[in-house]
Amino acid sequence: MKGQTISKLFEGINLNNIKLNIRIAMAPMTRSRAIGYVPNDLMVKYYQQRASAGLIITEGIAPSPNGLGYARIAGIYSQEQIDGWKKITDVVHAEGGKIFAQLMHVGRVAHPVNMPAGAKVLAPSAVAATGEIWTDAEGMQPYATPAEMNGEELQAAIQEFVNTSKNSIEAGFDGIELHGANGYLLEQFLNPHTNTRTDAYGGSVENRIRFVVEVTKRVAEAIGKERVGIRLSPYNQFNGMSLYDEVFETYDKLTKEIGKLDIAYIHLVDYAARQYNADLIDIIRSNFSGTYILNAGYTLERANEVLEAGVADMVSFGSPFISNPDLPHRLQNNIALTQPDPSLFFTPGEQGYIDYAFAAETENANA
Ligand SMILES: Cc1cc2nc3c(=O)[nH]c(=O)nc-3n(C[C@H](O)[C@H](O)[C@H](O)COP(=O)(O)O)c2cc1C
Repeated sequence: MKGQTISKLFEGINLNNIKLNIRIAMAPMTRSRAIGYVPNDLMVKYYQQRASAGLIITEGIAPSPNGLGYARIAGIYSQEQIDGWKKITDVVHAEGGKIFAQLMHVGRVAHPVNMPAGAKVLAPSAVAATGEIWTDAEGMQPYATPAEMNGEELQAAIQEFVNTSKNSIEAGFDGIELHGANGYLLEQFLNPHTNTRTDAYGGSVENRIRFVVEVTKRVAEAIGKERVGIRLSPYNQFNGMSLYDEVFETYDKLTKEIGKLDIAYIHLVDYAARQYNADLIDIIRSNFSGTYILNAGYTLERANEVLEAGVADMVSFGSPFISNPDLPHRLQNNIALTQPDPSLFFTPGEQGYIDYAFAAETENANA
């Protein structure tokens, strides 16, 4: 009989008025199973299997056709999509879990072949990402060069986040997470290499953070500040993003503004900040009085360290949840983790998605 791990990770936490059973979140992960941009029964099963997380944050969900740049990702702008997500929130709630929708507008990280007819690849500025993106119809293709959003398109994009945050509540989500990390639309506004605008949304740090602050404020007004979180990744270089002089100042000012909006949480992808300027991790915490979730590469031991030290309130795990649907149970009972197969991360179908075993099944299989 293996002993149970005593850890703050397994204590409950009050995320504003939402009571979470444990402090382990499932990090948002695109899995590309949404054929036709609509959630389906396979996805219902996947999320149901992982409902023992204290909080599930879904894969990135597009707030409009323009936000769908990858193959087989879902939106939440149509009634059919809302109804599909409702089945997912229902099963997670039936299992006692909580679930936030991650609203992800990919901006320039896109290819038109992956998008419905009429959708446009839009970004703060017409700067293409270097590299290639997968398309089902034409294999690997260079990233599209986005069109620079005009003033009307920019306001429309803000409105899309507002509309789909309301749709998310209609679909039964406990709240939404704005994807401000990993080089997608919101971060494209923050970074001066992808935002070369000369209007009120580009140039100075104050101008570059404006879009993110406005989206956060408008969404919080629409559905309630206690239902809104935001994900950030300072010093991120993923998706063709590059470093710039004022990273520290940008995130310091941004999180002070977000602090004033008093939203539920900040979810930090912290590994690049640890490498370039770890002080920023603590500065962000001091700028913000809500729940602070850290992510990227955490083990049980490192998660315990940051919770015990008061550096964070929760930790999210990504890839370990792919291959261990019962991750909290395994961590708590010192059961070995299964390694995921990255070649199946984004493939359609059940394999590498809903066929990872629960610990008891593994033990039976080995018996
Ligand atoms: C297959 C896969 C898909 C991902 N998709 C998203 C996504 O849609 N939104 C997001 O914010 N991060 C996404 N990420 C990043 C994860 O949320 C997380 O930051 C990363 O996996 C590091 O955490 P980990 O070491 O616990 O896996 C993805 C990661 C993986 C492995």
